[in-house]
Amino acid sequence: MRQDLPQPTAGEMQPLIERHLQKEGPLLPILHSLQEAFGHIPQAAVSLIADALNITRAEVHGVVSFYHDFRDVPAGRHVVKICRAEACQSMGGAALADAALERLGVAWHGTTADGAITIEPVYCLGLCACGPAAMVDGELVGRVDAERLDTILKEAGA
Ligand code: FES
Repeated sequence: MRQDLPQPTAGEMQPLIERHLQKEGPLLPILHSLQEAFGHIPQAAVSLIADALNITRAEVHGVVSFYHDFRDVPAGRHVVKICRAEACQSMGGAALADAALERLGVAWHGTTADGAITIEPVYCLGLCACGPAAMVDGELVGRVDAERLDTILKEAGA
């Protein structure tokens, strides 16, 4: 968890919220703007959004937690996603994932202490024929074996 990073101020977040208030269904555009600007949805933004949209903080929080791409803490410098869906599991994906978590010393959604890598599960990357599949900073990687995993993690700074 990277709770130690400086958090944006209300003054920095408010314009990003207000920009979308006239839209129909402003909540998702607001959340996307905040995440794009700050790399996550800051905790303090939840109240600001709730007040601006006249909804409860629980409703805002529910949407943030429903969409897996919204983060409540910033990601590491590199994001490695490993496919946990069936086709990749049948090709050794589970062992690969266990090896990655053990090597990084974090759980799913965790970030290494030096902030280099965040690791996340993903459920099918559309690369089922080339499993186990992974995604590194948005780039698909197929046929990830122990050696390729090693290269990926080393290049990402592990
Ligand atoms: S099951 Fe892993 S990419 Fe489809």
